[in-house]
Amino acid sequence: MNPQDQNEFNESSVNIQSFLLFLFATVIGLLVAVLLLPIFLPNMAFSLSGDSPKAYWYLSRATAFVSLTLLWLSMALGLGITNKMARLWPGMPATFAIHEYVSLLGLAFAMFHALVILGDQYINFTLLQLLVPFSTVDYRPFWVGVGQIGFYVWVIVAVSFYVRPVIGQKFWRFLHYASFGMYLMGILHGIFSGTDTSLAWAQNYYWVSAGSLIFLFFARIIGSLIDALFPAKKQTPAPRPTQG
Ligand code: HEM
Repeated sequence: MNPQDQNEFNESSVNIQSFLLFLFATVIGLLVAVLLLPIFLPNMAFSLSGDSPKAYWYLSRATAFVSLTLLWLSMALGLGITNKMARLWPGMPATFAIHEYVSLLGLAFAMFHALVILGDQYINFTLLQLLVPFSTVDYRPFWVGVGQIGFYVWVIVAVSFYVRPVIGQKFWRFLHYASFGMYLMGILHGIFSGTDTSLAWAQNYYWVSAGSLIFLFFARIIGSLIDALFPAKKQTPAPRPTQG
């Protein structure tokens, strides 16, 4: 990306107030799901408050895939920016804005995914276990821990959008590269701690998700190699037409 593009997009496209509102809305959404749904959907009440309520687990699994999909989309758009495919569609400014927005939205879904599992009596996590990586001793502590670390890295990357002028472009870029690790942690966590991994649709989903990003990643590497080997010639302005 050229420096002009960088300066143009130095400002975060989602202001900090909107981001905090996002997270607040997630918590309100969680409370609505837990407190109000049983009133409006009595059949669901059993699922939420019976001997072994399953609704929290279903909500956690559903939002897990939404979160991973939003992270995938954000990564795909980010790679589209660097390999310049985004210039073809939907254009650089739109891609920057959607890339950032989708990443923040995905983070809100990841927060919901993690918090709502507190209601599941089978998994039976405490709030402390939810917050401390690798502490869920009774349920796949290593792979859940990988998801927890991924979540914290995601928080750092999200916050870095807002402190870019303070930390500088170089350090921001360095932090931004952590997104690759974050996606890797998210997908490995999903595969190895999720219930749905044994199902064909989930396996296809994981293949398509990782495969498409690997494709875009190599498209970027090959594009950079071509740029380095065959630098575009500077266009010399056409000679001024002579008068007379
Ligand atoms: C504090 C952070 C997190 C905690 C405590 C956590 C916890 C869990 C648990 C307990 C499961 C197993 C649920 C089950 O299927 O029985 C799970 C599955 C999953 N998580 Fe997370 N997770 C966290 C972060 C994340 C993040 C950041 C992502 C996405 C990038 C994610 C995506 C997934 C996916 C895709 C599954 C598979 C769901 C399924 O197979 O049904 N998780 N997580």
